[in-house]
Amino acid sequence: MIKPLRGMKDLTFEDSRRFVHIVTTAINIAKRYGYSYIETPILEETALFRRSVGESSDIVGKEMYRFEDKGGNDVCMRPEGTAGIVRAFVSAKLDRQPVKQKFYYYGPMFRYERPQKGRLREFHQFGCESFGEASVYEDFTIITMIGQIFDELGIGFDLLINSLGCPECMPPYKQNLVGFLTDISPELCEDCNRRIGTNPIRVLDCKNEKCQSLLESSPKLISNLCEECDTDFLKLTALLDKAGISYTVDTNLVRGLDYYNKTAFEFVSNEIGSQSAIAGGGRYDKLVEYLDGKPTPAVGFAIGIERIMELVQMPEVDREGYYMGALVPEAVELLFALAAKKRQETKVTVEYNSKGFKSHMKGVDKANARFALLIGEDELKNGTVWVKDLETKEERTVPFDEV
Ligand code: HAM
Repeated sequence: MIKPLRGMKDLTFEDSRRFVHIVTTAINIAKRYGYSYIETPILEETALFRRSVGESSDIVGKEMYRFEDKGGNDVCMRPEGTAGIVRAFVSAKLDRQPVKQKFYYYGPMFRYERPQKGRLREFHQFGCESFGEASVYEDFTIITMIGQIFDELGIGFDLLINSLGCPECMPPYKQNLVGFLTDISPELCEDCNRRIGTNPIRVLDCKNEKCQSLLESSPKLISNLCEECDTDFLKLTALLDKAGISYTVDTNLVRGLDYYNKTAFEFVSNEIGSQSAIAGGGRYDKLVEYLDGKPTPAVGFAIGIERIMELVQMPEVDREGYYMGALVPEAVELLFALAAKKRQETKVTVEYNSKGFKSHMKGVDKANARFALLIGEDELKNGTVWVKDLETKEERTVPFDEV
């Protein structure tokens, strides 16, 4: 028997119902905030992710599904959505238009990570990307929107925020940090030592406990921001305070992708184990430029759909539509015309096997139908059908053409 690949999952029945509920809830909310749908290819040139997510990131360094296609092109299955959307934005020359653009998307992402609970090799994200708005009001609005999505899905969360500065304040801070890290390097883990040379700020989110305790006294970017970044961050926290959205400033929150600047955030849940991030995002004001577009500020996020699947409170499903069945074989084909008529307005399940009344009523429950419509010998003779409303319990016999 052929099974799905390690770290990949089929979504069926309850899971797929949850998936659809999450996506439709998120879409409805994103539309209220002015986002429209964008679809980009799953396969992209490898260079796209190297330039955006960054050479020194784990994603590009170790986790990409990368191969040469039959035409000799170096390609990758997208590990995330933002890079492809920025590429599409630049390809369509939307960077030359004065209007602000907002896109939402959902779909599969691929990262060759070690699978564990909450960490898959193929997983799905719902995300939003907002282009052209430099104001921190947009960061606040996006955070509010994610909160609203989780509220509507019945999911509790903690919000972590940080500022990653800008090309003015980040480089001197990095230099300062490298000095600090070099001094304590003999005591840091192997990964941290490698990162001192490649991407020093990623040392800050090392999961090793010893490293974390050594890093407690590290210089913090949040206390070394330039005036503009500092003002924006203070404005963001003031807006969150005013809106009653609670948050924690996490000075070690650096995110695993290199394109961020200024606001970075993560939504976490303490109910799903060690892979606790249920959404992440932030500002990436330089990425459009890196990918050959006109300088365009941008901010966005993505929710990990599988991570929230078990947390979602599903609405009760009401009985809906018709279950149609025959008690005698001669009546079965009569159901098709009735089903065609009713399918103009509602859901219809047709049972092709004629069987006994009790057995049909079990089928009605299984289909979660509101109405049972059956044709037996008497009904066949009289040109009628028997209908029962499972909610009001009312039963009626009606002529065939009045159904
Ligand atoms: P990210 O933090 O890498 O950000 O991923 C966003 C979310 O995807 C995570 O918070 C997590 O819920 C989920 N996720 C990530 N990796 C896995 C995995 N291996 N298995 C299951 N779920 C996973 C991004 O991808 C950015 N593109 C977000 C963004 C959009 N930033 C700006 N715009």
